[in-house]
Order: sequence, then structure tokens, then C-alpha cells
Amino acid sequence: MTVIPLRLPRRLLEFTLDGQETRVPEGSTILDACRAAGKDIPTLCEGDTLTPKNACRVCVVEVEGARVLAPACSRKAEAGMTVLTDSPRARHSRKIVLELLASSTDLSTTPRAAEWIKEYKAKPDRFGPDAARLDEEPKIDNDLYVRDYDKCIQCYKCVDACGEQWQNSFAISVAGRGFDARISTEHDGPLTDSACVYCGNCIEVCPTGALSFKSEFDMREAGTWNEEIQTETTTICAYCGVGCNLTLHVQENEIVKVTSPHDNPVTHGNLCIKGRFGFQHVQER
Ligand code: SF4
Ligand code: SF4
Ligand code: FES
Repeated sequence: MTVIPLRLPRRLLEFTLDGQETRVPEGSTILDACRAAGKDIPTLCEGDTLTPKNACRVCVVEVEGARVLAPACSRKAEAGMTVLTDSPRARHSRKIVLELLASSTDLSTTPRAAEWIKEYKAKPDRFGPDAARLDEEPKIDNDLYVRDYDKCIQCYKCVDACGEQWQNSFAISVAGRGFDARISTEHDGPLTDSACVYCGNCIEVCPTGALSFKSEFDMREAGTWNEEIQTETTTICAYCGVGCNLTLHVQENEIVKVTSPHDNPVTHGNLCIKGRFGFQHVQER
């Protein structure tokens, strides 16, 4: 049975998107309208279950009459506005953002980064090797998940998911200022000494792979991680009565990680430690 959550009807508003008259429900973002129209806008810090942070600016579009480019992920569509999603100015800005990100962080596990770099003709080495923001070893201080902050673009999605928007654990936050800002636990201690409850909701929202399952990290290190041969099966967690949806990622008959559908009206992609990481017993044969 498909559950359709009931919502109050929303008025439609009309605006011009790349020369086409477009109608979207009031409250929609420009990104919502683009997705409904089948337009592919790059996004990194946008999270469908989180309040927009406007941190990466890779989604910018041109709004007629506006002095600056607008982030499509958070700018609400307004009646009568005229938006260009693929203008030379928007494309140039996305190119620079991608060059800055690629020069300063490791985007090797960011889905679609390579594709966007190619599409926008960005030069990943434009700012040279000295632009690297961090050069440190991945933090492996527990058996469940790894933090590799060389890959962190400081989008703060993990902080929001761990904090007030979902888990309310506040185990990770931003430490430092300016170029020294980084995601950290309290006093930069190991995760095991922090308030972390290992729900893994931060991994679920991290757009770059800076946070990853230990299982995925180990397989990538060993060169055996292969998403092309993985299957995804959504099922129901059997641990307790909440009944969260789990998506099992299986490679060669082994569960390699667990995610959760974001469109689930109860859990919105969030899980607890048992649903997220308690899959090893399934593989004990
Ligand atoms: S660890 Fe991931 S989710 Fe957290 S700020 Fe960095 S890139 Fe964003
Ligand atoms: S993920 Fe946690 S809360 Fe959800 S059903 Fe499983 S045990 Fe219960
Ligand atoms: S995706 Fe819009 S600002 Fe990052």
C-alpha cells in the first residue's frame, strides 16, 4: 500500500524558467521547479531532509533584476520572476566554485563531482597543491564509521543532522574560525568519547564521502568497492516496533552498508545504531 501524506492544498504560482512559463506550488524553491522540469542543477550542500544551508553555492542561477546570483536550493520561486539556470554567468560561477572545491578538498568520492568538473570545464588543479585545506589521515577510532576530513567541504549537513534538526546528540560541531574551521567532536577527542550514539545519520547526509561506513572505507582501501555490481533492497528493520525502512546495499552477497529512504514520512532517512549498523549478524553463516 502506498501511503500518501495529506497536506493542505497549495496555490500554484507562475514564473518563467529558461524562457518557459512554469507553474509550481507556492513555497517551492527554484530547485524544486528545476527538478520538476527535468533540469539537472548541481547541488552539494542541499539536503532534501535538511534546511538549506547555502554553503556550497554550486547550484546558483540567474534571477532577472537581481544583483547577485541566487542559490536555487533555497531561493523560493516567486510569481512573475524570470530565472535563467544555464546562463554564462551562472555557469562561470559554478565553474569557479568547483575549481575552489576541487583544489582544496579531495572530491574523489563525491558522487558526480568528476562529471560536473568536465561539464563546466573546471580545472581542479587551478589553485595548485598549496590550496589543500587539510592534509591529515582519516580518523578511524571505532568499528562503525570513519571520518576523512580531507574530503570535507564544510557544508555542515552532518552538524545539522547530529544536532537540532534530527538526532539532538550534538556530538559534532564546527571548531575554529576561517581557514581553520573544521568539523570536530568536543575537544577534538575520539568519537568513542563523544556524545555520538552511532545513528549514522551524519553519514546519510554527507555529500562527499568524508563520513563513511567502516565497511565501505575498508573495501575502498582494498580496491574491492564496486557500486556497479551492488544491489539495493528496501526492507523493514526488525529490531523494534518503529518499523523504519532500511535500504540494504549488497555486494557479492554481503551487506556493505545501510541507508534509509528519505521520502519515508516517519523516519526521513534517519535510523538508530541498530538499524544502521546492526547487519553483521545477518552475515554470520
Ligand atoms: S563531514 Fe560531510 S556532511 Fe559534514 S560538513 Fe563535511 S562534507 Fe558536510
Ligand atoms: S532503526 Fe532503530 S528505531 Fe528504527 S526500527 Fe530499527 S531499531 Fe527501531
Ligand atoms: S546546493 Fe545550493 S548552495 Fe549548496
